[in-house]
Amino acid sequence: MRSFDKRVAAVTGAGSGIGRALAVRLARRGALPALADIDGEAVRATAEAIERVCPGSRLLVTELDVADRAAVQAWADEVAGRFGRVDLVVNNAGVGVVAPVEDAAWDDVEWLMNVNFWGVVHGSKAFLPYLKRSDDGHLVNMASVFGLVGVPAMSAYCASKSAVCGFTEALRQEVRLSRSGVRVTTVLPGGVSSAFARSVRTSPQVDADALAAISSRVAATTPEQAARAILRGVKRNRARVHVGPDAYVIDWAWRLLGVGVEPFARGIAARLLPLPWAPESPEP
Ligand SMILES: NC(=O)c1ccc[n+]([C@@H]2O[C@H](COP(=O)([O-])OP(=O)(O)OC[C@H]3O[C@@H](n4cnc5c(N)ncnc54)[C@H](O)[C@@H]3O)[C@@H](O)[C@H]2O)c1
Repeated sequence: MRSFDKRVAAVTGAGSGIGRALAVRLARRGALPALADIDGEAVRATAEAIERVCPGSRLLVTELDVADRAAVQAWADEVAGRFGRVDLVVNNAGVGVVAPVEDAAWDDVEWLMNVNFWGVVHGSKAFLPYLKRSDDGHLVNMASVFGLVGVPAMSAYCASKSAVCGFTEALRQEVRLSRSGVRVTTVLPGGVSSAFARSVRTSPQVDADALAAISSRVAATTPEQAARAILRGVKRNRARVHVGPDAYVIDWAWRLLGVGVEPFARGIAARLLPLPWAPESPEP
């Protein structure tokens, strides 16, 4: 996408963190943002933030659960109907669960997959026909470096983000083969200092406050830096966008070491996650 000016940009999870920063940055670049979030108050606050920096911006603000397939389709139709086109879609909404597999509640695992995986599939399928009609359509799906490596106590999250990677990378090749002109980007953030850790669901033995404190301490990137990296990647038509130095380190460690990276992942998880895991003794 050469320029965001006058481009219609739909962003999910726009009420907080990376989604809010993307929405504000897109508005500053002249885009017409269509913003959605399950938290209506939060997404209206994003709209107010945009109004402060870009008074008179043309906006569409929608309270939306991306896990609801029919609602996502209705939103896509509404965005296209209101603005007459859709050029950029960022399937950004996401949630977390921190719990060892044995203790994770079924409801929490399903909730996470419904938002992180199905939400991305819903958004991609609903908007694809509209993006194909744009002369510069671009789809961005939010994965994570935790979609590349497994992290203890984050199995559902890692699975959902791996699924987003696989789905998005297959779709990118489909649209190339069909010569539809739509571009597709997978985003792989490392740690970003957002409200994300505050909203994760945990098993009873996880200290959620300690988890939030640790996450904010180790996050290497701000949401604004993440938004800048993502939109730069869209402009340069990058297949994958890494966000933050830690994202490159984790990706390259995985490529070079394969499963040899697991002791590091375990060491970091044992040190950082507030779980009653003892430090590892060497394997016999
Ligand atoms: N923060 C990080 O360290 C990090 C790292 C890697 C990937 N990510 C991914 O980046 C994306 C954005 O995360 P963030 O850090 O900005 O988190 P955040 O919690 O600040 O923002 C997420 C937003 O998504 C919204 N949301 C949650 N469930 C929803 C639903 N069902 N329908 C619509 N909206 C919903 C929330 O209300 C919130 O406004 C997520 O997909 C997350 O998995 C974040």
